[in-house]
Amino acid sequence: MKTYNITLLKGDGIGPEIVDQAVKVLNTAANKFGFAVHYTEALIGGAAIDATGEPLPQATVDSCLASDSVLLGAVGGYKWDGLTGKQRPEAGLLGIRAALGLFANLRPAKIYGPLKSACPLRPDIIGDSMDIMVVRELTGGIYFGERGRKTVDGVEAAYDTEYYSKPEITRIAKVAFETAMKRGGKLHSIDKANVLESSRLWRETVNEMAASYPQVEVNHLYIDNAAMQLVRDPKQFDVLVTSNIFGDILSDEASQIAGSIGMLASASLGEGSLGLYEPIHGSAPDIAGRNIANPLATILSVAMMLRYSLDELEAADAIEKAVETVLENGLRTADIYTEGTQKIGTDAMGDAVAAAL
Ligand code: IPM
Ligand code: MG
Repeated sequence: MKTYNITLLKGDGIGPEIVDQAVKVLNTAANKFGFAVHYTEALIGGAAIDATGEPLPQATVDSCLASDSVLLGAVGGYKWDGLTGKQRPEAGLLGIRAALGLFANLRPAKIYGPLKSACPLRPDIIGDSMDIMVVRELTGGIYFGERGRKTVDGVEAAYDTEYYSKPEITRIAKVAFETAMKRGGKLHSIDKANVLESSRLWRETVNEMAASYPQVEVNHLYIDNAAMQLVRDPKQFDVLVTSNIFGDILSDEASQIAGSIGMLASASLGEGSLGLYEPIHGSAPDIAGRNIANPLATILSVAMMLRYSLDELEAADAIEKAVETVLENGLRTADIYTEGTQKIGTDAMGDAVAAAL
């Protein structure tokens, strides 16, 4: 039987409980579709800091590199908020993205029919549906540019640098063009080219590449306008491509339109088939350990893993279908609960998806 090696990075806060539900669903899919999964757990974020003193131990990087794929929960929490820079749990997450060369982050934001009432926008604004793919650059930009602190004329200052090389832009734009070709053929590139030089290079590069993709309709929007358009008329978007920090912000906005940040999955991909899959939400320390977190984003991340890294397309489709079934049956975690539906816990949601499979 085909066996996949998966590294689990449960992380902090609600990370462990949502990953446990996703594993439950993945095991059910493995049984049903005739493959096996072998798991290795490794430390990242605050949990790694507590155990080893650093947010990304080398053993974790090695385990991920030796895997077919990686599933991550979330990192960070109040306990480590006092730490700075490379000491922080978040440095572990940025570090693993960089170490595995995962420059392309796919964040699909779609409204599931049964969740329309959880969407904060008016029904006439969302219309029949919203189905957007945010393609976020993940290993460059201001997240990885030069930063520091200094004192200038006795005044304390700090700086971070937005830096993009042309090859970095080209490779993420290629992913976006190809994604658009497989979807609705519409691409919006988001930048701040009216102010930032890095954005001007971004826009020039996307325009040069557009000639090779005549089937794709290319539009450019400034980030401020894009943030506004997303709530004014989300239906106009198909694929968005943008920098690391703009993608971070726009994907949170898009997730709320989809009903809850607890619903959005993501795939982080590089040149090979090794990917890292994680919900876009954080570790939510305020609700950790209370069995109320929504595990659906992590479960949907497993579906993306099956599709993009393991090529188990039937299993991927089946998990997505099972999530829809559960929502159609009126089951909801607290974040997506509306009157007339049934509120259930994290565990019960995992069980329900596994049963629907
Ligand atoms: C995300 C998160 C991370 C990011 C944080 C936790 C560093 O917000 O994956 O969107 O900014 O990339
Ligand atoms: Mg974010």
